[in-house]
Amino acid sequence: MTFPLRSLAAVALAAAAFLCTAAGAGGNDAAQRGAALAEARGCGGCHGERGHSPTPNVPSLAGQPPEAIVLNMILFREGLRDAPPMPDLARDLTDRQIEDLAAFYASLPPGPPEDRGAPDPARMREGALLAERLNCGVCHLPDYRGQNQVPRIAGQREDYLLLSLRGYRDGTRRGTDTNMNAVVYGLSDAQLAALAHYLAQQGER
Ligand code: HEC
Ligand code: HEC
Repeated sequence: MTFPLRSLAAVALAAAAFLCTAAGAGGNDAAQRGAALAEARGCGGCHGERGHSPTPNVPSLAGQPPEAIVLNMILFREGLRDAPPMPDLARDLTDRQIEDLAAFYASLPPGPPEDRGAPDPARMREGALLAERLNCGVCHLPDYRGQNQVPRIAGQREDYLLLSLRGYRDGTRRGTDTNMNAVVYGLSDAQLAALAHYLAQQGER
């Protein structure tokens, strides 16, 4: 399979450009328009009304950096990230609508899903060691809240974290570059599960 790296780079640039022009244009208004659009489109049915996903394998969006949401919505819209049902849902959205949705979800306080289980000490230790050794906090920041186009992973759903990490390892998911694929290259299922468990337990209680 050849991968459209060129078009991905173009998408990243486009996302960065329109976020810059949007800056200062009234984040509150954008978040309000985004809230109305999310309601009209039923995003909360899967991602949770306040962005804390109650749905297995569906990510929480509350507190994500807006750039990370914009980038993924554009990847879905342009058919560059294949994750049903998102490409269909993003197809007819304008740049402005995507930006509004991102402002809305970024404005919501992050937090774990209601069905998060209790931490398992052995997997917490293994996950912490791996995260340290593999420098996850360098890009995702030491508290894993994300920055710019690097997503928040603290308190994300454990099942979705594991799904994503497997996708990167197995080459079925790529971002705008192959950084994540390189980071998890060669890790075992048990190691990915420990990382997912550890990260799902981070952040607000
Ligand atoms: C029917 C369920 C469903 C609905 C409705 C839905 N989503 Fe999703 N969404 C998903 C799933 C499933 C994924 C993850 C797919 C995967 O990676 O396998 C996802 C992923 C995403 C992501 C990527 C997040 C990340 O961390 O990578 C964003 C952003 C997103 N959705 C935004 C939206 C918005 C905005 C709406 C409303 C317009 C919406 N979704 C409606 C199921 C849904
Ligand atoms: C070199 C920088 C870098 C490092 C180091 C890094 N990441 Fe990432 N990570 C990224 C970027 C950039 C993305 C977004 C890529 C994309 O668009 O899919 C990402 C995405 C992710 C996602 C998908 C989240 C979502 O909402 O879809 C997970 C999970 C993740 N990283 C976990 C980790 C873990 C665990 C580690 C350490 C083992 C790690 N990352 C190390 C840069 C990094």
